Amino acid sequence: MSKDEIRIVSTGGPLGADAWGVALERISDDEFEVLHRAWLDHDGVLRIPGQFVPAETLLAFAARFGELDLAPVSAQGDRALYRPDLPHLVVISNIVENGKAIGGLGSYESKWHTDMSYNEVPPKASVLQAVEIPVKGGDTGYANMYRAWETLPEATRRRIAGLTCKHDASRNSVGEVRRGFKTVYERREEVPGAVHPIVCTHPETGRKCLYLGRRDLAFIPQLPPAESDALLDALWAHATRDELTWYQRWRLGDVVIWDNRCTMHRRDALDPNERRLLNRAQVKGERPMAAAA
Ligand code: SIN
Repeated sequence: MSKDEIRIVSTGGPLGADAWGVALERISDDEFEVLHRAWLDHDGVLRIPGQFVPAETLLAFAARFGELDLAPVSAQGDRALYRPDLPHLVVISNIVENGKAIGGLGSYESKWHTDMSYNEVPPKASVLQAVEIPVKGGDTGYANMYRAWETLPEATRRRIAGLTCKHDASRNSVGEVRRGFKTVYERREEVPGAVHPIVCTHPETGRKCLYLGRRDLAFIPQLPPAESDALLDALWAHATRDELTWYQRWRLGDVVIWDNRCTMHRRDALDPNERRLLNRAQVKGERPMAAAA
């Protein structure tokens, strides 16, 4: 296998491509460069089909994008250590064994979000591998946040230039309140989470994109509450329109790498009687950078 044998084929949707001719267990630096370039060029989503590799190999591949994050703290308040020997591995699963969930996020729908944007320094990339998949349900949608910016009316672009957003840390992507956080906050200033610019510049492509994170209790500190809600609702409705989104229907062995700096994602609910298990790794990022006006 050489870098010239890798074929990159667009999904035909508003973002994403497939990389064919890849074996994750033996990737040369040249091959990695082809994959990395394709990931950036296809707006932050790259699917590599047919990767039946152990979690160790997935983590080693993810680590080529940068330093790995430790598994995040779950809604139950503990660090989700699924394999004590692999502290960077996150398991996404609805499977319950001996009365205990073996992974996070269950069978619920997860709402549009960017991973851990409520942190000051959110992860730049997430890598997900399908180990067990249901017959139906559990598809993962991706939204192109470059295009979300590029297709905004000029007046809206001018209005949001320089605004920031407080990203809500109290809930996970399936809407569960994390242990130690409140369900209701009396004053919006009390909502925990990081404040980031709404329009960011991608540090590797130099392109502008919207950075919305997650909706729940998010707000724009520069605007009164009603105005902030109306503007955020309009931006969210715009960014998640069908023409800006593409859905991954999982096949066994699919590995998808997405760029949290210029995409959002969500997941369809699935039948709790079906089994779904995916291995995930997260790559550390940098503080989101405000776009120049
Ligand atoms: C995630 O949000 O990281 C999980 C997505 C999925 O379960 O498809």
